[in-house]
Amino acid sequence: MSSLLVDNIGELVTNDGRGGDPLGVRRDAALLIEDGQVAWVGPARYAPAADRRLDVGGAAVLPGFVDSHAHLVFAGDRAAEFAARMAGEPYTGGGIRTTVGATRAATDDDLRATVGRLRAEMLRQGTTTVEIKSGYGLSVTEEARSLRIAAEFTGDTTFLGAHVVPAEYADRPDDYVGLVCGPMLAAAAPYARWIDVFCERGAFDADHARAILACGQAAGLGVRLHANQLGPGPGVRLGVELGAASVDHCTHLTDADVDALAGAETVATLLPGAEFSTRSPYPDTRRLLDAGVTVALATDCNPGSSYTTSMPFCVALAVREMRMTPAEAVWAATAGGAAALRRTDVGRLTPGARADLVVLDAPTHLHLAYRPGVPLIRQVLHNGVPR
Ligand code: NIG
Ligand code: FE
Repeated sequence: MSSLLVDNIGELVTNDGRGGDPLGVRRDAALLIEDGQVAWVGPARYAPAADRRLDVGGAAVLPGFVDSHAHLVFAGDRAAEFAARMAGEPYTGGGIRTTVGATRAATDDDLRATVGRLRAEMLRQGTTTVEIKSGYGLSVTEEARSLRIAAEFTGDTTFLGAHVVPAEYADRPDDYVGLVCGPMLAAAAPYARWIDVFCERGAFDADHARAILACGQAAGLGVRLHANQLGPGPGVRLGVELGAASVDHCTHLTDADVDALAGAETVATLLPGAEFSTRSPYPDTRRLLDAGVTVALATDCNPGSSYTTSMPFCVALAVREMRMTPAEAVWAATAGGAAALRRTDVGRLTPGARADLVVLDAPTHLHLAYRPGVPLIRQVLHNGVPR
């Protein structure tokens, strides 16, 4: 059994949930890693002996980011669509079909290379856990293929066959819902942990979403949902009704939506990269936090609405544009993401957790929002191994 002592930590964010400080900050701390797990956390002066020592020189150390919402299996890009938006065009989700065409035409190796490239980008920016969705295949074989490739990179794979109705089913959406619930789910389920639906005007309505999510639950998948992104709608309340782990976007919420979330286990996952890249209003995060809702932050990385892999960028946006405190945003990007994935092994640095951690080129977590756009991730340890 080999051990590594991370020593001389100026500020250690543990998210230990004790006391009044949600980040569970410890100063002048050390952290012992054994077999890829956190074995001990405490004051540096009481640090136990270890086989190896990593002196971080007074830097801040945080749990690795947990990016609980990403669409990484795709081909091509939509830079021209972005440019048109910046010139005044609205985002409608219509470009999803463009990416479906490119994805279907790609080889397995093309798709694998793209996921690998984006996963590597994420790791360099401190993300040690990622959820990956399908949703650009939209046929039985293509959705299964996307999930098979996603499963090479993460255990948190999500079947999003109900992203939009593909062109070949445009005039018979009920038939497409039948396909998703039947043969597509059967082919996808062996590779998926979660099921998701884009519940929005122009995608799937509440009845279709409820039917699809119920089939997924019956097949043993956990529920998550794209909800209330482009306008108010039934998605958030449907997610709460079905016991979803998370409802994602939450850009347009009514009082009834906030009340439903406040009484539920369901996490509200906010995706400020999407608001940034679609030039949309940001969600009213203070209203959610004041109501006691658990909030997570994620990138929504995809070629249409949010082509970023950077959790530090999302933290900075959440602080500047969504009025989260830096502490709330860092919690949401780590422990919040873990809650959204119903994971207890990540998103915290306490004994027994996976030794996924980020050493900042900065003395405190505040710098993530205070120094936006600056590469502050000095070192990443994943399962206790420097990457
Ligand atoms: O989460 N809203 C639906 N799906 C993605 C966007 C997909 C796309 O535009 O390609 C999202 O924003
Ligand atoms: Fe998304």
